[in-house]
Amino acid sequence: MMFDPLSAAFDDPGFADLRQQCPVSKTEMGAWYFARYDDTVDGAKSVDRFIASFREPGVVVAPEEQLINEIPEPRHGQIRRIINSAIAAHRIGRVEPFCLELCHSLLDGILHAEGPVDLVSDYVMPVPNNVIAHLLGAPPEDFWQWANWSDEVVQGTYPTKNRNERGEGLAGAHPEFVAYVDGLIADRRREPTDDFITRLINTEVDGRKLTEIEARTQLVFLFVSGNETTRHLIGNLLWRVSTDPELFATLQNDRSLIPLAVEECLRLDPPVKFLMRNCMINTTVADVEIPAGAKVAFGIGSGNRDDNKFDDGNSFRLDRSDPRSHLSFGGGPHVCPGAMLARLEARVALDVFLDRVKEVALVDGEFRGVEVFWAHGPATLLANIAGN
Ligand code: HEM
Repeated sequence: MMFDPLSAAFDDPGFADLRQQCPVSKTEMGAWYFARYDDTVDGAKSVDRFIASFREPGVVVAPEEQLINEIPEPRHGQIRRIINSAIAAHRIGRVEPFCLELCHSLLDGILHAEGPVDLVSDYVMPVPNNVIAHLLGAPPEDFWQWANWSDEVVQGTYPTKNRNERGEGLAGAHPEFVAYVDGLIADRRREPTDDFITRLINTEVDGRKLTEIEARTQLVFLFVSGNETTRHLIGNLLWRVSTDPELFATLQNDRSLIPLAVEECLRLDPPVKFLMRNCMINTTVADVEIPAGAKVAFGIGSGNRDDNKFDDGNSFRLDRSDPRSHLSFGGGPHVCPGAMLARLEARVALDVFLDRVKEVALVDGEFRGVEVFWAHGPATLLANIAGN
């Protein structure tokens, strides 16, 4: 069978072959795959040539319903500034105590359980879900509901087809989620509070605020993108420390290495495996002609292991001089605005885990990933845990 970079394991030697011999190649699904680091960096900056779209060819979405990463400039820049003002650094800083307390309380439950526990369902998933719902201003009793809706969005056909069996667009495909988010927005309009949603609907950039539909669309996207990616970062980190006793001991003994472990895990195990783009004009990359209208996949998993950028690219190392230069948060004008929050959650989740857990042994040592085609993270981590 032909090597398929969209589904292969990141350590498959096929990636190194592609980088050396065929840096831009046609995949089975027909998209052009960029295997080299530099081509993905250039592509991500080149928003006039490549526009993000996980949608199937021919699917058209009304402008107000476009997710922020699909929106062309200059409208993207305006909406991005509104979102940035709502997730500003000093506000994210305030999330840390909430995250710390949450991780401890989840581990209280895990360490009291009899027999093996699933670290993904009992520790990994609740962290980003609760943190992002808290940051966005949902009432705590509804957090579980957000988690279900967010899974429904990524596991269904709405992201690729803009519809599902229930209907068209976000409101048709996920009516309960939309009704709930519209309700939160309406509450803030009636009674503004000092929270994320109030800032999102009231911030004005270039004399313009978000419309009702834009605010709802971007809120849903923020929730889903903050939840479905960070969970894989934390899951991959726990997979690494649970399967590598030396790494577990090193980090136990020197917590200052945790941020480096987070970056190295992002590089080797990127939660988003590739970025899908629509090619807007005829263009040439690495001597390959790509026609307007073609689908392109920026290979994050491959670029992150490119030996021209990272010495010994397939190895997990805590001594890299430029540990943040991986592609896992994208690049250019669409670079992830939630990177700081994701790093904070991963650092706290791992630190508390190391504080509370003396030994961890996975029941099954084989990595089983989630069944979302662009995502990389464990579906389960069944483990026996001994507390400190
Ligand atoms: C480990 C966790 C995360 C990873 C790996 C990740 C990855 C990415 C990547 C690769 C992009 C670029 C998409 C593209 O160019 O098409 C992106 C964009 C984005 N991310 Fe994240 N993300 C993470 C966490 C978060 C969090 C916590 C939030 C919310 C607070 C968030 C919100 C967004 C938004 C709104 C965009 C779109 C930005 C734009 O188009 O201007 N992400 N993310």
